[in-house]
Amino acid sequence: MASTFRSSTRTILVLGVLILCSVSSVQSWSKEGHILTCRIAQSLLEAGPAHVVENLLPDYVKGDLSALCVWPDQIRHWYKYRWTSHLHYIDTPDQACSYDYSRDCHDQHGLKDMCVDGAIQNFTSQLQHYGEGTSDRRYNMTEALLFLSHFMGDIHQPMHVGFTSDEGGNTIDLRWYRHKSNLHHVWDREIILTALKEYYDKNLDLLQEDLVKNITNGLWHDDLSSWTDCNDLIACPHKYASESIALACKWGYKGVKSGETLSEEYFNTRLPILMKRIVQGGVRLAMILNRVFSDDHAGVVAAT
Ligand SMILES: *[C@@H]1O[C@H](CO)[C@@H](O)[C@H](O)[C@H]1NC(C)=O
Ligand SMILES: *[C@@H]1O[C@H](CO)[C@@H](O)[C@H](O)[C@H]1NC(C)=O
Ligand SMILES: *[C@@H]1O[C@H](CO)[C@@H](O)[C@H](O)[C@H]1NC(C)=O
Repeated sequence: MASTFRSSTRTILVLGVLILCSVSSVQSWSKEGHILTCRIAQSLLEAGPAHVVENLLPDYVKGDLSALCVWPDQIRHWYKYRWTSHLHYIDTPDQACSYDYSRDCHDQHGLKDMCVDGAIQNFTSQLQHYGEGTSDRRYNMTEALLFLSHFMGDIHQPMHVGFTSDEGGNTIDLRWYRHKSNLHHVWDREIILTALKEYYDKNLDLLQEDLVKNITNGLWHDDLSSWTDCNDLIACPHKYASESIALACKWGYKGVKSGETLSEEYFNTRLPILMKRIVQGGVRLAMILNRVFSDDHAGVVAAT
């Protein structure tokens, strides 16, 4: 969920060697949000799709999708993957609080579809060809799975669909309790880390258990069918992006001024919003994977 280094070319020129340290810290950002989204998704897979996902993962992760859900953040500055660096977010017009695919989904050069919504469509449709077998496979299905899984987390992070001039809150510097941060990072990571420290003994497994409990029979149980309602897999990410910019305006930017300190009040009111988005991302990722890897496809693959 980190897009802080959008301005990295500028930074590289100025800071030279320093950038190396900064980039490595970016890689670990928002690990927790992505891990939770992917673990929740994997726990909701049907047997056939679960099997396909396991087969696509490299052996060393032992079937754990969440172990590689941050991979797209780690490679986004590599030369080979530079085309992916714009795919983590969407810049929308300042203060408009709306999202329009044809207006907003492009990269800094205006190239269409190069945003997190376009990327989800792209990797979903690549995975839809999985069942056709390996003979004329044009795309790397492992990479498509990892990109899709990561971007489904990003599109649900409200500040990943933010205003253009502040780079989704990245340039809004402020304090989170006692340390320096920025508004984007507050939503990428600070809120989750504070919750882990305050309520879960810094144990991500305990937070995950709490979320899963609220999916299976608590808070969100009745919402699942509306969250996963989707007639057209390629069009549904528009809705997820629109939800995010609406939440960014209502909860992210609301009342926040650069230079100020955010603490308890902001944390307490935003935590439930962020938790719900993490869960929605996971539930919807599972919906997509269950459909693109549905059993008859898995059967075809098993036979090849
Ligand atoms: C779709 O993925 C291919 C590589 O798999 C890439 O070349 C292309 O730029 C991607 N487009 C989008 C919108 O993600
Ligand atoms: C697919 O991509 C992964 C990750 O980049 C790589 O390790 C793997 O070798 C690739 N598989 C193929 C068949 O090219
Ligand atoms: C689970 O739901 C309860 C209310 O039913 C709520 O107090 C709690 O914060 C929720 N847990 C998470 C992690 O969202």
